[in-house]
Amino acid sequence: PNIATVIPAAGVGKRMQADRPKQYLDLCGATVLEQTVRRLQQVSVLQQFYIAVSPDDPYYPALSFLQQGCFQRVQGGTERANSVLNALQQINAEQYPWVLVHDAARPVVRLADVQMLIEHCLAQNVGGILATPVRDTMKRGTSQIEQTVERSGLWHAYTPQLFPTALLRTALTDALCAGVAVTDEASAMEWAGHPVLLVPGHADNIKITQAEDLALARFYLERN
Ligand code: CTP
Ligand code: MG
Repeated sequence: PNIATVIPAAGVGKRMQADRPKQYLDLCGATVLEQTVRRLQQVSVLQQFYIAVSPDDPYYPALSFLQQGCFQRVQGGTERANSVLNALQQINAEQYPWVLVHDAARPVVRLADVQMLIEHCLAQNVGGILATPVRDTMKRGTSQIEQTVERSGLWHAYTPQLFPTALLRTALTDALCAGVAVTDEASAMEWAGHPVLLVPGHADNIKITQAEDLALARFYLERN
């Protein structure tokens, strides 16, 4: 099957508080972005990558690894969803009927999990995401607990997220037009009324968000 890969990598990494966007920080001898891309490249069906990058980003051109023909640079947008939509607009849905979207900031996703997601979605012909069931007791409130939230049926949503290209493009476009908060691809698909599979992955698929996450990512990478 022909699956295009979209990598949103146009964020500024505000919460990381580093001297550059987190996707360009070093992780085990390469940038976070390169580690993420190399990992996905090991999945044989993923061969064409659309990487959304900030227009005035000085770091991307320096990454010689990404100068190969299988990588296409796309202009990033103001929010993650805009970055993804810009990439989707470059993809020929007939050539690539499916699109896999994966955060640049998730470099330690397990290959077996990515393969599992692809198998499940293609077998059922339905989009889906990697996720894990919530483990902790969940509370709602501000400074005091208002309520304990029923944990069963709650999941942490990760990337990759895999969808039919044309459906996702329409859903994202319409959801953004309607002013819906689109924090991941699935939320646009849900809003548009499409089913989305929850495919169990592993909780080590962390998104590098704060300074301490880099050490954890290093630990997970070196473990394999
Ligand atoms: N992203 C993007 N375009 C944006 C914002 C985010 O492509 N306008 C990407 C980031 O580069 C990252 C992924 O979306 O790979 C997940 O976003 P997040 O973890 O929130 O990264 P940042 O927005 O960079 O971090 P922060 O929210 O702390 O500023
Ligand atoms: Mg962000």
